[in-house]
Amino acid sequence: MFDHADVYALGKAEEVFGKVLKARADLREQMVIQSKCGFRFADERGPLRYDFSKEHILDSVNGILKRLSVEYIDVLLLHRPDPLMEPEEVAEAFHMLKTSGKVGHFGVSNMNKGQIELIQAYCEQPMIVNQLQMSLFKRDWVDQGVLVNHEAGKASYFGENLLEHCMLNDIQIQSWSPLAKGIYSGKNGNDLSEAEMKTRELVAKMAEEKGTTREAIVLSWLMRRPAKVQPVIGTTNLERIKDCHDAIRQSEFMTREEWYSLYVTARGNNLP
Ligand SMILES: NC(=O)c1ccc[n+]([C@@H]2O[C@H](COP(=O)([O-])OP(=O)(O)OC[C@H]3O[C@@H](n4cnc5c(N)ncnc54)[C@H](OP(=O)(O)O)[C@@H]3O)[C@@H](O)[C@H]2O)c1
Repeated sequence: MFDHADVYALGKAEEVFGKVLKARADLREQMVIQSKCGFRFADERGPLRYDFSKEHILDSVNGILKRLSVEYIDVLLLHRPDPLMEPEEVAEAFHMLKTSGKVGHFGVSNMNKGQIELIQAYCEQPMIVNQLQMSLFKRDWVDQGVLVNHEAGKASYFGENLLEHCMLNDIQIQSWSPLAKGIYSGKNGNDLSEAEMKTRELVAKMAEEKGTTREAIVLSWLMRRPAKVQPVIGTTNLERIKDCHDAIRQSEFMTREEWYSLYVTARGNNLP
């Protein structure tokens, strides 16, 4: 599965990918291609903004297909919530994209439960993905649930019932920035806090004991059931992809004690 967005590298990321697909058309059917729209960068007309108008969604998908050199994409996500969204327009755009065969499935990114419910109430197609920033470093998705009815919980906001809503409605949760730029799996440690240093050491120790990579430990913490989070790896390094692969196996075997050790060490505080 490849995750794109019309705005990545101002369209160049999709263009380069499209060049590869043009040269190797056989690859297309072996992959799931996902892209996103709804972002508009600052220009002469206005500041950085979001645009879920029907016209912009349809134009964006045409641009995505052209740059990727494909006739359809498998999944289209709305990139970030647009406060000016008219759900009827989104529904019309999605209907046209589905019936024309340009998009197979639809989803969202960086959205809360209410925003997903609103879109879903108007769209005939199910929202099958919500892509969110989640990792061992950005832990609000766990903290919020753990700290219900606790003073410290006020400082942690991920989205009320968001995780539960996605799980109950078969919405695949995808995590962006799952390695948090390598903070626990290799990045130079000079500017790290004490908790970050300790987590880094624990990740390295676990990886050694289990005969796997540090990336696999960090990702398997995120992927461990029950939420079944799907990490979206961002890398230009082939070795990094290989180093991530064992996370699939490790996530099946990470014990409750190992999971909590990583969580509590990364928090830097014991649980209430
Ligand atoms: N929906 C959204 O709003 C949203 C936002 C941001 C990103 N995304 C998606 O999520 C993907 C992942 O996000 P991300 O790129 O921010 O992920 P990330 O895992 O936090 O960061 C990836 C970066 O960290 C570097 N890195 C990872 N491990 C390292 C290590 N051990 N030592 C040094 N550097 C290391 C990588 O370098 P190397 O190239 O060397 O591996 C890469 O530059 C993106 O590609 C994009 O598809 C979505």
